[in-house]
Amino acid sequence: MHLSRYFMPILREPPKEAEIVSHQLMLRAGMIRQSAAGIYSWLPLGYRVLRKIEQIVRQEQDRAGAIELLMPTIQSADMWRESGRYDDYGKEMLRITDRHKRDLLFGPTAEEVITSIFRDGIKSYKELPRNLYNIQWKFRDEIRPRFGVMRGREFLMKDAYSFDLSKEASRLSYARMFAAYLRTFARMGLKAIPMAADTGPIGGDLSHEFIVLAKTGESQVFCHSDLLEIEVPAANTNFQGDLTEVMEQWIGAYAATEEMHDAKRFEAEVPKDKRVEARGIEVGHIFHFGTKYSEAMGARVQGPDGNLINLEMGSYGVGISRLVGAIIEAGHDDSGIIWPVSVAPFEVGLINLRVGDGATDSVCADIYAKLTGAGIEVLYDDTDERAGAKFSTMDLIGLPYQVVVGPKGVKDRQVELKDRKSGEKQTMSFEGVISRVIEDVQRNRILV
Ligand SMILES: Nc1ncnc2c1ncn2[C@@H]1O[C@H](COP(=O)(O)OP(=O)(O)O)[C@@H](O)[C@H]1O
Ligand SMILES: [Mg+2]
Repeated sequence: MHLSRYFMPILREPPKEAEIVSHQLMLRAGMIRQSAAGIYSWLPLGYRVLRKIEQIVRQEQDRAGAIELLMPTIQSADMWRESGRYDDYGKEMLRITDRHKRDLLFGPTAEEVITSIFRDGIKSYKELPRNLYNIQWKFRDEIRPRFGVMRGREFLMKDAYSFDLSKEASRLSYARMFAAYLRTFARMGLKAIPMAADTGPIGGDLSHEFIVLAKTGESQVFCHSDLLEIEVPAANTNFQGDLTEVMEQWIGAYAATEEMHDAKRFEAEVPKDKRVEARGIEVGHIFHFGTKYSEAMGARVQGPDGNLINLEMGSYGVGISRLVGAIIEAGHDDSGIIWPVSVAPFEVGLINLRVGDGATDSVCADIYAKLTGAGIEVLYDDTDERAGAKFSTMDLIGLPYQVVVGPKGVKDRQVELKDRKSGEKQTMSFEGVISRVIEDVQRNRILV
């Protein structure tokens, strides 16, 4: 992409309305613009990040055997009357009436829709277990939307729903999602710790929130520091198998959100120097809630012995749009964002220091062609801004690698490679920079 033909409205000054660094940086880097309180447009740069996060989530859901579909944003109130939640859900639900005076709503979640689809589609217990997911916009009329995309009203969520014949089988489905989540967040460069959580309005008896530690997090959390060191399951993990052991390795150590925190147990179970008390951002939440919806909505199937059995269900959410903010909270410095390669909007920023100088232009064109030809995503700054402004823009938008080409170096066939994270700069030959960048990007695309 040539920056001279792109749309990336940078703000030089920190916007006043943004309280936390990720929100400030997303506005400054031209990633989002607010359309109404808690409702955002995703500008080109931000949208690229959102799509990359979505794709990692999708790949790990698919690896774990979940099946993607797409449910509507607008749902019928009747389904929610069937489950009994229409009145319970309260003011967070955006309620809509159509021209025929029928009650609709903008879905805050989709248990009702999926339960009705699955109920009508399944014929035999032999079709279990199944896990169906979608990545779709949700709306919750939050009383206090804040922190940009972290607590929006409209937000993108991956929500998966598991269906099983028995409680034991359902726990296996839960463990599978648990393991998939560990991989998902690690691939974005995050350490997300599963913590015992309250089941909230959805109800049930087994629930974990995946928490990224960050000063600006909205939840107070408590855990054993060993949890920060455990390795996540490898890519070749058998997701058809029993992943209870993986889960137990994590839930064996103390980790709880404020609502579930038990100070006595924390002190008894965790040695003083291993106690982590911190703020955290909830990036995912998984629940096992048994037959709450299947009973209410008649989602049953005939078991092997002919008896009708209510399906055991779980639901599994990932806050995809919130993750964009969470990743920035975890990776930035005074100059701007520091993206991990796996979610960076572009992998390389190519800076031309003398646009219009024939030799410099042609070296840049050549590097651009070779990198993009190798499948590397390059943002080429071919504008006529001054060098200082170009450098600060590149640092602000946080692309992992910067290749800087100027007329002086070009005479000696030299360019500069800068690593955004370490700040390290190296002078290299044209050919050297191309092979080095291709190699590094490819190696770092998949972190685990
Ligand atoms: N208002 C919001 N803005 C952005 N992301 C959200 C919002 N509410 C929830 N999420 C994301 O969706 C995931 C699943 O939501 P859920 O646990 O059902 O919501 P809550 O924790 O608010 O009850 C959360 O872990 C979070 O990452
Ligand atoms: Mg939650």
